[in-house]
Amino acid sequence: MADDRYDDAPLTLNDGTTLPRIGFGTYPLKGEDGIEAMVSALENGYRHLDTAVNYENEAEVGEALRRSGIPRAEVVVATKIPGRFHAKDLALQSLRDSAQRLGLEQLDLALIHWPNPSRDLYGQAWQALVQARQEGLVRSIGVSNFTAEHLRRVIDETGVTPAVNQVELHPYFPQPQMRQVHRELGILTQAWSPMGKRNAPFAEPAVAQAAAAHEVTPGQVVLRWHVQLGSMPLPKSATPERQRANLDVFGFELTDEEMSAITALGRPDGRLFGGDPDTHEEM
Ligand SMILES: NC(=O)c1ccc[n+]([C@@H]2O[C@H](COP(=O)([O-])OP(=O)(O)OC[C@H]3O[C@@H](n4cnc5c(N)ncnc54)[C@H](OP(=O)(O)O)[C@@H]3O)[C@@H](O)[C@H]2O)c1
Repeated sequence: MADDRYDDAPLTLNDGTTLPRIGFGTYPLKGEDGIEAMVSALENGYRHLDTAVNYENEAEVGEALRRSGIPRAEVVVATKIPGRFHAKDLALQSLRDSAQRLGLEQLDLALIHWPNPSRDLYGQAWQALVQARQEGLVRSIGVSNFTAEHLRRVIDETGVTPAVNQVELHPYFPQPQMRQVHRELGILTQAWSPMGKRNAPFAEPAVAQAAAAHEVTPGQVVLRWHVQLGSMPLPKSATPERQRANLDVFGFELTDEEMSAITALGRPDGRLFGGDPDTHEEM
C-alpha cells in the first residue's frame, strides 16, 4: 500500500493553485507528429504540458489541446520566456505572443527559462511576470535554472517568491542543495530531463534491482523516485506505451534503502551537458 503522502493528488503551489503530480515534457515534439504525440499524452492522462518559446512548438501544443477535446480548464499549459526577451517590455510582449501562439487567453504557468546572469536582466523578466500575473495574463509564475542566489535576489527585489523552479534533476544529478533551498523558500521543484534523457540510469543496479523487486520498469522506478523526493517530473515520450507507464507510478513505494541507493548515483559532474546556470546561457 503506497504512502498517501506520495499519492497522485495535485501539488499545491505557494500561490494556492495546484499542478498535477507528473507533467509532460514537449521538447522536441513539433509538426504533425508532435501534435499526435501530445494528443496521445493527453488521452493517456497527462494534464500538464511543458513548453517554451525556444521549443518552437507552442502552436502545436495549443492545437493538441484543442484536438484532444479535453476541457481547457483541466489542462495546465506552462511556457517560458527566453533569454533574449528579459528586458521588462520584451518579457511582457513574449508572454502575450506565447498566449497568442497557444491560442489561450491565459497562461497557466510562465517561467524565466534561464537566468543568463552575465546579462543581468532576469530581475526585469521577474518584474514582468509579477505584472503579468496582476493583469491576469498568467495564473502562476516561476523560474527555471535559477540558483539560490538568483532566487533570493528576485524575492528581495519584488517580495514575490517564484511558485516553481524547474531544474535539471535525475539520479546522476539529484540536486540535494537546491531541493533544500526550495523547501526553505516554499518553491516547488520541477525536474527537467527527469529520466536523464539519453543517459538514463536504467542499467544501474540501484535502479534495475528496485524495478525487479517491484515488478515495474526502470523508468517507473526513476519517476517514482522523483515523486518520493517531492519533485514534479516532466518526462517526455513520443511513445504511447511509455507515456502510460510514466504516469503509472502510484501503485508501489520505494523503500528508504532503495531511495538512498538511487540518490547515491549522483555525482558532481552528473549534469547532462554542463548546464551550470552560473555560466551556461541560452538566448
Ligand atoms: N527548463 C529547461 O531548461 C529544460 C531543459 C531540458 C528539458 N526541459 C523539459 O523537460 C522535458 C523532459 O526532458 P528531456 O526530454 O530532456 O528528458 P527525459 O524526459 O528525461 O527523457 C526523454 C527521453 O527518454 C525516453 N523515454 C521516456 N520515457 C521512457 C521510458 N519509460 N523508458 C525508456 N525511455 C523513455 C524518450 O524516448 P521516446 O520519446 O522515444 O519515448 C526520450 O528519448 C523536456 O521535454 C522539456 O519540456 C526543460
